[in-house]
Amino acid sequence: MSDNTFRKPVRKAVFPVAGLGTRFLPATKAIPKELLPVVDRPLIQYAVDEAREAGIEEFVFVTGRGKTAIVEHFDTAYELEATMTARGKSLEPLEPTRIQPGNLVTVRQQVPLGLGHAVWCARAVIGDEPFAIFLPDELMYGSPGCMKQMVEAYNEVGGNLVSVLEVPMEEVSSYGVIAPGAVNGALTEVKGLVEKPKVADAPSNKIVSGRYILQPEVMGLLETQGKGAGGEIQLTDSMAKLIGQQPFHAVTFAGRRFDCGSKLGFVEATLAIALDRPDLGDDVRAMMTKMLG
Ligand code: G1P
Repeated sequence: MSDNTFRKPVRKAVFPVAGLGTRFLPATKAIPKELLPVVDRPLIQYAVDEAREAGIEEFVFVTGRGKTAIVEHFDTAYELEATMTARGKSLEPLEPTRIQPGNLVTVRQQVPLGLGHAVWCARAVIGDEPFAIFLPDELMYGSPGCMKQMVEAYNEVGGNLVSVLEVPMEEVSSYGVIAPGAVNGALTEVKGLVEKPKVADAPSNKIVSGRYILQPEVMGLLETQGKGAGGEIQLTDSMAKLIGQQPFHAVTFAGRRFDCGSKLGFVEATLAIALDRPDLGDDVRAMMTKMLG
């Protein structure tokens, strides 16, 4: 095995965004969940910003019916820009929505067969390169961002990486869970992976928190991956097969994580980020203090 095996640069990222967002109905009846704003940025924007900071150049959205507005968000809005410019307004708020021509690719997941299937739908765009995956529901907040921390670890150890965090044991059944090996600072060796285990069967309370760097071989495994937890094709099950074949580590993110897949997490993210914003923080703090009496 040469030194450069499993260490090619990570330039591409997959964003699975085909989900129906039923937990946020009626808000998500006509608007994709990924476009719901946390303060003044859609949820997906935080993931794209995090990707860009980590050096990602090519953005692959796995979409489905009713999700076209996500692509619109990252397109040039000629009329809007011309009108704003004519009125002397700054185009700066639109900066984060710019993706280089040709660097946004969409593929469709025609049937909701699970996360593993969604990722597999991007195989032709990924080719034989390592790639990142971002689950936009997981808002990872910190500087440097979660993926940047992971890319730094990747430059050291190569192979496959997942972000992890610890949750109370009774919550593990909602997540992918790692069987941890040797720990070295933020880096933990991954000896096993199991999707949505029963509490009694869980190998640890370290859960996979929605960020991945994977080698392209996982696509071949997903091709024939049978149904797993919840009757879905699980990414975790194919990743587990890479353990022992290729390096596999977990990175504990130094930062905060908000679970924007739940209403409480979404409200928490909104409040935390509003409090942290230099332009809003003081006013929001004063408002909340007053509100809480
Ligand atoms: C997915 C993954 C799971 C991971 C979780 C993080 O589960 O399958 O391994 O821990 O995201 O949010 P889902 O939330 O789609 O059920």
